[in-house]
Amino acid sequence: MAENILVCVAWPYVNGLQHIGHIAGAYLPPDIFARYHRLRGNNVLMVSGSDTHGTPITVRADQEKVTPTEIVERFHPLMIQSYLKLGLTFDLFTHTDTANHWAVTQDMFLTHLHKGYIYRDTQKQIYSLTDQRWLPDRYVEGTCPVCGYTEARGDQCDNCGSTYDATELQNPRSKISGSTDLEARDTEHFFLDLAQLNPALEAWINDGRKAHWRASVFNFSKAQIESHELRGRPITRDIDWGVTIPAPGFDDKRIYVWYDAVIGYLSATKEWAQISGQPEAWRAWWDADADVRIYNFIGKDNIPFHTIIWPAMLLGYGGLGTPYDVPANEYLTMSGSKFSKSRGRVIAILDVLERYDPDPWRYVLTAMAPETNDSDFTWEEFVAKVNNELLANWGNLVNRMLGFAYKRFEQRVPAPAALDANDEALLATVRGGFESVSHLYAACKFKAALAETQRLSQEVNRYLNDKEPWKAIKTDAQGAATSVYVALQAIDWLKTLYSPVLPHTSQLVHEYLGYDGQLFGRQVTETITDARGAHQVLRYDASAASGRWEPGSLPVGQPLREPAPLYKKLDESVVASETGM
Ligand code: MF3
Ligand code: ZN
Repeated sequence: MAENILVCVAWPYVNGLQHIGHIAGAYLPPDIFARYHRLRGNNVLMVSGSDTHGTPITVRADQEKVTPTEIVERFHPLMIQSYLKLGLTFDLFTHTDTANHWAVTQDMFLTHLHKGYIYRDTQKQIYSLTDQRWLPDRYVEGTCPVCGYTEARGDQCDNCGSTYDATELQNPRSKISGSTDLEARDTEHFFLDLAQLNPALEAWINDGRKAHWRASVFNFSKAQIESHELRGRPITRDIDWGVTIPAPGFDDKRIYVWYDAVIGYLSATKEWAQISGQPEAWRAWWDADADVRIYNFIGKDNIPFHTIIWPAMLLGYGGLGTPYDVPANEYLTMSGSKFSKSRGRVIAILDVLERYDPDPWRYVLTAMAPETNDSDFTWEEFVAKVNNELLANWGNLVNRMLGFAYKRFEQRVPAPAALDANDEALLATVRGGFESVSHLYAACKFKAALAETQRLSQEVNRYLNDKEPWKAIKTDAQGAATSVYVALQAIDWLKTLYSPVLPHTSQLVHEYLGYDGQLFGRQVTETITDARGAHQVLRYDASAASGRWEPGSLPVGQPLREPAPLYKKLDESVVASETGM
């Protein structure tokens, strides 16, 4: 029976271009996962969008002296461009400044309020006398109260990941003016009552359905929840950019970006349903008793928001499903330091995709994926992985075999003679990938899935080095035809095993082998207009997709197409030109 897999992808702040650390951490993994499940014939819905609210956006707008809307309108289409180029197959990638998202957010807020999970209280927030304004979240920087990092932000520490109240920062200063002439002033806000939701969270984290969680994610979340120290968290801010608060007397405040962003998973599903012409179709993905597995792909700094706050919001609202798994990644660093848009050292994915094809990047970022540890990116490693792994193993296998078959076997899949034990053994090994690699993809172990596929591909290289059909053809044409046939059949299967990671080049192999049709569907863009204006969306049209996760038989005699090399060998000079050294 087909499974229902809801793939929720972290909503990227739309305040700049995404770098390869973001992509390796939270954007490429869900696409690999979604593609794998689609090949399995499962129902997949992958949603996300640009996170348009909060101080990350307004700080950038202030720096450039433009409106936050201008920042959104500049970078949202660039997000979509980079996903088009990299081949990320969102069923819907939208943004949060839409009438739909505002309505869904306000409905959740009012429901929490009426159920008593949101309360009003007065708290101290930082006010800058110099700047004559409040300094919420990223408008204030200082020393982290937990780890002592001196560049910590008002809402979260980039160094240790802790979240705290801005008033707990030591030596706070204004991000706008650098002023330290700050005071903690009383201001009235709404709070999400996590203490009251703590028992429901505790039951949820211990419901026996979390055994597959990554240990770091599970242990951290369980410890926080079982500490019984969860307190009310302010979910509104003294800021004029964001979703308006549906309560009288709060006109000059807005909903906090982290309250509305996570609601995006639900609102985007509703928008997808509307666009699809079946406005009620979202329920099949979100009803608490629907048979759906909800996955949240995120980076590690987002963990508490997805394993504590968002589940609390869902449980408080009632009747909705909760995350089945949160496969959070660690960081991809560059020469030891964390990628940060605001602090330089960036390799923007959109930029490198101007100069390189998408599949080598998908390969390298998967092979280096920071699944259980931070992982360090270097250009040397990039060149080495493309040349010595992807190209030397898989690229060369496809090239030499398809080229040979095309030239020497009349551009057709040759007919084999009887298979010997070696032939049978090789086919059995590669066919076994439909089990072994499958388990790894399904368990979100993408790095291991890729390594296992590489291992199987290497087995085919070894088989061919043994059989040497390019020599055998002179003396034993039948034997050569048999080993070419066996290798082509193995390549045909490997193409499918690789395809979640390498969709573009797997499609080429599919065509070189003489097949018609598309393994996957098409990415499409569209402009949607609602009461808040027009926004571009990225969608996925699965109608032409014919790829299947199964070992089909390569038809003998099938006409081949003339192959070309799948991957370009990278010159060592790439390192110097990319690092400017
Ligand atoms: N915008 C946040 C970031 O880039 C992530 C938001 S994830 C969501 O870190 F779940 F809240 F949407
Ligand atoms: Zn810290």
